[in-house]
Amino acid sequence: PRDLRQLAQQNGINIGSAVDVAVLRDEADYRKVLNREFNQVTAENAMKWESVEPQRGVYTWDDADALVESARRNHQQVRGHTLVWHNQLPAWLTTGVEDGSIDATELRAILRDHITTEVRRYKGKIRAWDVVNEVVEEDGTMRQSIWLKHLGPGYIADAFRWAHRADPHAKLFINDYNLEWNAPKIETTLSIVKDLQAQGVPIHGIGFQGHLGIQYDYPADWANVMRRFADLGLEVAITELDVRMVLPVTPEKLATQATYYSRALTDCLSVKACREMTVWGFTDRHSWVPGWFEGEGAACLLDENLAPKPAYQALLTVK
Ligand code: XIL
Repeated sequence: PRDLRQLAQQNGINIGSAVDVAVLRDEADYRKVLNREFNQVTAENAMKWESVEPQRGVYTWDDADALVESARRNHQQVRGHTLVWHNQLPAWLTTGVEDGSIDATELRAILRDHITTEVRRYKGKIRAWDVVNEVVEEDGTMRQSIWLKHLGPGYIADAFRWAHRADPHAKLFINDYNLEWNAPKIETTLSIVKDLQAQGVPIHGIGFQGHLGIQYDYPADWANVMRRFADLGLEVAITELDVRMVLPVTPEKLATQATYYSRALTDCLSVKACREMTVWGFTDRHSWVPGWFEGEGAACLLDENLAPKPAYQALLTVK
């Protein structure tokens, strides 16, 4: 294949990237590479709750709309990210819950309206939604988010039902990190899925974020974990792949990084139900990694100048 888009097409999968919409507007070279290389996009931040409803009842869809429109023009599918999460919630919501001015009944109605409003807005334009994000802790217990604390565990089933009602054709995913290898998290997530299915809740996919680092072993069992979810009838996606390293960059580290990227793609391709591999940013010029992991970076396929790194070349040779 000559590029990732052709690679995706030849393998019958989607290869996507997270997109920073401000950068998409401002940087023509970023835009050009994104649209040449990827047949799917995810908003890195623009569809999160704090972005779309920064003040109560005041919706700011400009960035999310711009991405969906750009995707349409460039024949890319869209992954919706994310409807229910404990992070990047608007301040009016978190403070309202804390000071008691929003009670549980109202909170449930707010969540229902948020999901309904956002999913309906992009009805027919979003292939798949990350309905719930990061709902399990590392030790396999349910995350003590405001959702669990105030609404109880039923909020997950409710969220999927509301999303399905708003867009019956969208594929609805549960998404998490460290699910590539962390046994307690894997087991709990599997039982959540089975539980939802037993109740007839519309859940269609499992998202593995895939935030990896070369200072850790590659999650060698990942394909087997994918298969366990596929065996429940779920579609599988790698939704936020990146492979960080402790700086400085060396040729050896870049070579190791390349093997992690190509193993991730190989794992996905080895599981029939794995239909998507999305990277969490495609260039080291714009990546969340340096801001979140001190002393680490260079996690993407292309460098700051948009030149392909060994990882990019390695993906093109995966069979
Ligand atoms: C990150 C973004 O990349 C940052 O720009 C933002 O400041 C914080 O969130 N898991 C997720 C993503 O599901 O939404 C996160 O994105 C990265 C971890």
